[in-house]
Amino acid sequence: MDLLKVINERKSIRAFKTDPVPREKIEEILSLTIHAPSAINLQPWEFIVVTGEEKERLGRRLIKAYREKQISCGPGNVKPLPKTIAKRGAKTLELMNPFFQEMGIDSNQFINEGSCNFYGAPVAILICQDDSFPKARFVDIGLVLAYFILVAHEFGLATCPIGLIIAYEDEIKDLLNIPENKNVVIGVALGYPNRDIPINHFKSPRDDLEKFVRWIE
Ligand SMILES: Cc1cc2nc3c(=O)[nH]c(=O)nc-3n(C[C@H](O)[C@H](O)[C@H](O)COP(=O)(O)O)c2cc1C
Repeated sequence: MDLLKVINERKSIRAFKTDPVPREKIEEILSLTIHAPSAINLQPWEFIVVTGEEKERLGRRLIKAYREKQISCGPGNVKPLPKTIAKRGAKTLELMNPFFQEMGIDSNQFINEGSCNFYGAPVAILICQDDSFPKARFVDIGLVLAYFILVAHEFGLATCPIGLIIAYEDEIKDLLNIPENKNVVIGVALGYPNRDIPINHFKSPRDDLEKFVRWIE
C-alpha cells in the first residue's frame, strides 16, 4: 500500500474485535515505528504493551478511576481555546452524534468510559518518556505516535490514540509498576476493527487548508 493511501484511509477506530494481535506483529509494527526522527536522535520514547488479562485489568481500573474523578476528554488547556479552534471539536462531536444515536448510547459515556477501556481493543500501548526531558520533547512522542498509527494501518490493524487516560496517570503507574521518573504521555488502542459498529463508519473532517497556513513570500 502506498503512503498516500494509508494517510487517506486511516482513522481512529472506537470498537474492536476481541481477536488477539500476535506479539510478532506488534513487534514488527514497533520496529518500523521507531524509524521516526527525533531531536539529536535521542529516541526519547518507551512503549509499554499491555495485553490479555492485564489489559482487561487496566481497563477496569481506569473506568473505576473515571467514575470516581469524572475527568473527561480535553482537560489541561492553560486558558480557554480560541473560538475557531474550539469549534472544530464541537463540530466533530456533532457529526459523530447520529452514529451514537444509531447505537442508542450516550456519547459522553461511550467516549469517556470507552477511552478508559481502550474501546475494547485487545492491546493497549502506553508511550512513556523519561521525566528528565523538557516538554518540547513531547514533539518526538507525537511523531512516533503518528508513525505507529500509520504503520499499524498498513498492517491491517486499527488504532485510536487515547489521551484521556493521562488524567489517571497515577493509577496507570501504580498498576503497571511504571517508575516515578517516567511520564505516561499518550495511550493507543490497537486491534482489528469491528466494522459492524456504527461509530466506526464515522470519518472526521478537516478544516480548509487556508485556515492553517500563512504564506510569507
Ligand atoms: C493526542 C491525541 C489524544 C487523543 N485522545 C483521544 C481519547 O482520549 N479518546 C478518543 O476517543 N479519541 C482520542 N483521540 C482521537 C481523536 O479524537 C481523533 O484523532 C480526531 O478526532 C481525528 O479523527 P481521526 O483520528 O479519525 O482522523 C486522540 C487523538 C490524539 C492525536
